[in-house]
Amino acid sequence: MVEYAVEVNDLHVWLGERHILQGVTFRCPERTVTAIMGPSGTGKSTVLRAINRLLDLNPEAKVRGRVKIFGVDVYSVEPYVVRRHVGMVFQEPNPFPHISIYDNVALGPKLHGIVRSKKELDELVKWALEKAMLWDEVKNRLYDLPTKLSGGQKQRLSLARALALKPRILLLDEPTANIDPVNAMKIEEAIKSIVREEGITVILVTHMPAQAVRISDFLVFMYKGKVVEQGPTRDVALHPRSELTERFMRGEL
Ligand SMILES: Nc1ncnc2c1ncn2[C@@H]1O[C@H](COP(=O)(O)OP(=O)(O)O)[C@@H](O)[C@H]1O
Ligand SMILES: [Mg+2]
Repeated sequence: MVEYAVEVNDLHVWLGERHILQGVTFRCPERTVTAIMGPSGTGKSTVLRAINRLLDLNPEAKVRGRVKIFGVDVYSVEPYVVRRHVGMVFQEPNPFPHISIYDNVALGPKLHGIVRSKKELDELVKWALEKAMLWDEVKNRLYDLPTKLSGGQKQRLSLARALALKPRILLLDEPTANIDPVNAMKIEEAIKSIVREEGITVILVTHMPAQAVRISDFLVFMYKGKVVEQGPTRDVALHPRSELTERFMRGEL
């Protein structure tokens, strides 16, 4: 039986000479949200990039340890297979500017051949935009370019694009860091709903303790390439064992 959606075990990453991740271990049960927190430069994004094998794109990167997705070692299969099942949203919204809102969402499913007809594709695009809480705002301008959308709308479009591949796991790297509070709330609502209703497992890197408390089940606190403390979010947030966690939660780190 496969117990965990994601298992990261004794993960080490070097970028050139620098030992960036120094033995990171955590597990994410299916249908949960795990928040990764920690100061800037601590290696949070590197953890996400190791999970979906984006680090492969960096010739300087060396990875040791194990990352499993539903029991499968991600380094034992082709990267595109991993990325088909593990979606990612970055801090900066990054819709493709030269193709329509519709095509931004439809491109992935088309490339991966996961729809058989235009009707199926239309339904998938609508589903993804609804799940990203963007449908009502764009349904009358699906064939416009995304360039006129606000930053928050662009970020929800990035989320819809990731969802359109029907990933089992979604990695979100500070997805609300650069957008206004109203849009941030919409994204938080969308995350809660995709976990609850679609059974997707989410790993969310966030700078905001309050956000982690609002939407995560588990919290992993990292400092300088290591996990300092982890556990159910309430336990870690309310009763941090490490002084580093406590100081971060108070906004001092
Ligand atoms: N391409 C790279 N080459 C060399 N060092 C890098 C590269 N990308 C990130 N780093 C370094 O790796 C460390 C961890 O970065 P990162 O994972 O982005 O941290 P975080 O997401 O927690 O802010 C930082 O010290 C950063 O300077
Ligand atoms: Mg980062």
